[in-house]
Amino acid sequence: MEGYRWKAAVVTLSDKGYAGEREDKSGPLVCEMITEAGYDVEKRMLLPDEKEEIKKCLCSLCDDDGMDVIFTTGGTGFALRDCTPEATMAAADRNAPGIAEAMRLASLKVTPRAMLSRGVSVIRGKTLIINLPGSPKAVRENLEAVLPTLDHGLAILTGRTGECAK
Ligand code: MTE
Repeated sequence: MEGYRWKAAVVTLSDKGYAGEREDKSGPLVCEMITEAGYDVEKRMLLPDEKEEIKKCLCSLCDDDGMDVIFTTGGTGFALRDCTPEATMAAADRNAPGIAEAMRLASLKVTPRAMLSRGVSVIRGKTLIINLPGSPKAVRENLEAVLPTLDHGLAILTGRTGECAK
């Protein structure tokens, strides 16, 4: 929505990042890209790949902090510890699959490995939650695919507009 800055949280999921064994470059990149697109990053988290902990964090960001949107990065792949989609679905009220579908569609034009992200997009209450893969390259490519369209969805979700112009 013109002029309105959405309240956003950015959550990095990485065992190595949490343990201080790997610098988190993806979380800061998400922050940079969405700030430029007109979002206010009000919360930043870095958690290990623990389903219950992630679910609790997502629920609290929605219910206690009233975020408009949460972007997660990491933990969407096939590694046994990857559990971001499961934690996100456990926090969800409703599915919003088109966003994840659009990201994979766009990403498949760049790399066939895009099919290896199990990331989901869902709604809890009035908060949209979007899973991004873990690498900075994947973050950039996935976000670029959906950022221009999120504004309209968020406006409807939060009741700032009831109209679907197109
Ligand atoms: N999507 C895009 N656009 N670009 C990429 O380089 N990497 C893929 C995929 N999605 C990639 C992508 C790879 S290699 C993996 S394993 C999955 O995202 C899952 O990544 P994650 O486990 O870091 O979340």
